[in-house]
Amino acid sequence: MSKVAIVGSGFVGATSAFTLAASGTVTEIVLIDINRNKAIGDALDISHGVPLMRPVDVYAGDYSDVKGSDIVIITAGANQKPGETRLDLVKKNTAIFKEMIPKLLSVNDKALYLIVTNPVDVLTYVTHKISGLPWGRVLGSGTVLDSSRFRFLLSRHCGIDPRNIHGYIIGEHGDSELAAWSLTNVAGVPFTEYCTICKSKCDANFRRKVVDEVRNAAYKIIENKGATYYAVAMAVRRIVEAITRDEKSILTVSSPLSNIYGVSDVALSVPSIVGKNGVESILELPLDDDEIKAFQKSAEIMANVIKELDI
Ligand code: 2OP
Repeated sequence: MSKVAIVGSGFVGATSAFTLAASGTVTEIVLIDINRNKAIGDALDISHGVPLMRPVDVYAGDYSDVKGSDIVIITAGANQKPGETRLDLVKKNTAIFKEMIPKLLSVNDKALYLIVTNPVDVLTYVTHKISGLPWGRVLGSGTVLDSSRFRFLLSRHCGIDPRNIHGYIIGEHGDSELAAWSLTNVAGVPFTEYCTICKSKCDANFRRKVVDEVRNAAYKIIENKGATYYAVAMAVRRIVEAITRDEKSILTVSSPLSNIYGVSDVALSVPSIVGKNGVESILELPLDDDEIKAFQKSAEIMANVIKELDI
């Protein structure tokens, strides 16, 4: 038995609800939105497919229905418009979180809080700070999506199953993110070496292009159709599954860091073990000097944003 509350039934919240329902990952989903009719409509629309999937109770509710949830997923807030960065949303969404988080906690301070709203790293940090919840119980979807985009592009490059590629995008879920090339491998072979096996080029130019494509993916999708939601919903499902099944999976979720590659007091994504307690530990895996520098630069950008916030 597992209940999730999804706060925010916009594109991302509603698609996450559908994806969670269709995957059979949870048994109860409550959708909460300031536009109650939107939540009612989404819950009904998903419910009508329930006879065709594994039983799941999907309904619209209000903050009081967060009671008994194992995971509270937050997707509420303003989203990026064409030309906006994720960090452009910080003031608006921090204000929303400062009002919303205490209300949710007054109903349920036992749940894990999974933050999806952007800028996700800053809001994960803000939620951890204002909630006072123990470390690990507030996590952000972070770069789980970006790592998926990265693995997808590498799989296309070499014509192999993306599940056979271990690769991580780390740092900010945003413009300062980076690829941990030194950890990226196929069947235990470093990706750059695997390229000789798959007879494709993996030079610096290719590597730069792939990372740019990952970094700019959301901009491209937003330009084309106004919002991104399918792949991020898959990332939400993957994280929820790791928690509800206590998988101890390695995922690049965002969490507050304490002396990781010399970085403290910001939330960023690093390969982390995710299980029933949320983020159970962070893996400080070997990176090369350039990667550590780029990670520290990403942290500096986050710290400068956090400094400006009244939290
Ligand atoms: C994405 O990367 C916008 O953060 C969202 O698709």
